[in-house]
Amino acid sequence: MSLRQTIYTIKPRAMSWWSQVAMGPPDAILGVTEAFKSDTNPKKINLGVGAYRDDDGKPFVLPSVKKAEEVIRSKNLDKEYAPISGTADFCKRSIELALGEGSEVVANGCNATVQGISGTGSLRIGGAFLNAYFPGNKTVYLPTPSWGNHTPIFKHSGLDVKSYKYYDPKTCGLDFSGALDDISKMPEKSIILLHACAHNPTGVDPNKEQWAELSQLIKKKNIFTFFDMAYQGFATGSVDNDAYAVRLFVKDGHKIALAQSYAKNMGLYGERAGAFSIIGDSKEEASRVMSQIKILIRPMYSSPPINGAKIVSEILGNPALRADWLQDVKLMADRIISMRTSLRDNLKKEGSSVNWEHITNQIGMFCFTGMKPDQVAKITKDFSVYLTKDGRISMAGVTSKNVEYLAHAMHTVTK
Ligand SMILES: Cc1ncc(COP(=O)(O)O)c(C=O)c1O
Repeated sequence: MSLRQTIYTIKPRAMSWWSQVAMGPPDAILGVTEAFKSDTNPKKINLGVGAYRDDDGKPFVLPSVKKAEEVIRSKNLDKEYAPISGTADFCKRSIELALGEGSEVVANGCNATVQGISGTGSLRIGGAFLNAYFPGNKTVYLPTPSWGNHTPIFKHSGLDVKSYKYYDPKTCGLDFSGALDDISKMPEKSIILLHACAHNPTGVDPNKEQWAELSQLIKKKNIFTFFDMAYQGFATGSVDNDAYAVRLFVKDGHKIALAQSYAKNMGLYGERAGAFSIIGDSKEEASRVMSQIKILIRPMYSSPPINGAKIVSEILGNPALRADWLQDVKLMADRIISMRTSLRDNLKKEGSSVNWEHITNQIGMFCFTGMKPDQVAKITKDFSVYLTKDGRISMAGVTSKNVEYLAHAMHTVTK
């Protein structure tokens, strides 16, 4: 047999490396967008996507971000690598945004803060660090329900994932006694994940008194708190109000972990700018922690992207731009709040006998409508209204032009 014939006969076998790879399921949320795109109904509405839209349903680049980009362009900066942990300026401004200007923790250097690849990457760094160094029970307790990516992120990090009660479908509100009950049963030195504000997917947050009680119980049980703050400013329109829980826990002496994202509050979705912090007991402890976080990051992605981080630094570091940004955040939050009222009013106008109070009680980008899976299927099929099966709608997709149609559709499938 010639050499040529030999190659020809063995080729088909050698090519087939991946025949054992099964087709994976599509992502639940991106799947909704795909279905929406192929629908030809001109009245179609996509309420699946977790990104802000203006009142014309269009993606929104914040005016403060556009201005920051102009300033950055005029500086003619280079494209050198950022340090493994991101720039010191970005990290300092991020933790100060979370803990407040003049925070003692920051003044004393007790925080180890790094830039993460937006909120997801920051959670993932946190997962890797806890998996490597957490001295207690390496189990993260998530609220039921939680953001769909939390479980995979923490499992992928090597941690165990369990849950605690959070949402009460009967009231479409917080199951506070259920949460307290479950937390009091958690083994000491476990890890609890708390959504700092604008809980995703439910839009249900504890009130100030409830946060205080949670803080005391979690402290008494010696449980480690990991805050996910993906929506600072988006819930109430104020970045300080929305950081209430994080600041309270720190004031109460919790040494927390914190993931931050600038995707929603600066509209920097694709720029992937976020931060991960550990609050240590001392400056010396924080620098030891920092050294190990950097060692974890280096083989994962070496160093973070620079463009979004520059925009964040420019906005937070320039008082005039920062003031503009705070107004932009408020504008987005206010539009969402006004759409909640409008949706509820329109459902009333339709004559719905369902109690829709939770639409205005819940806060942030999402509303857990209480629609059941069969009602979700019907509203998609009959009205081309797209949302996730759990009945969650993104309020960011509701506009003054589609709210009447949406209310009519919701009333029709729920009566
Ligand atoms: C609760 C929560 N955490 C984290 C994220 C992370 O988002 P990103 O990685 O885009 O910053 C999201 C985004 O939807 C979220 O809802």
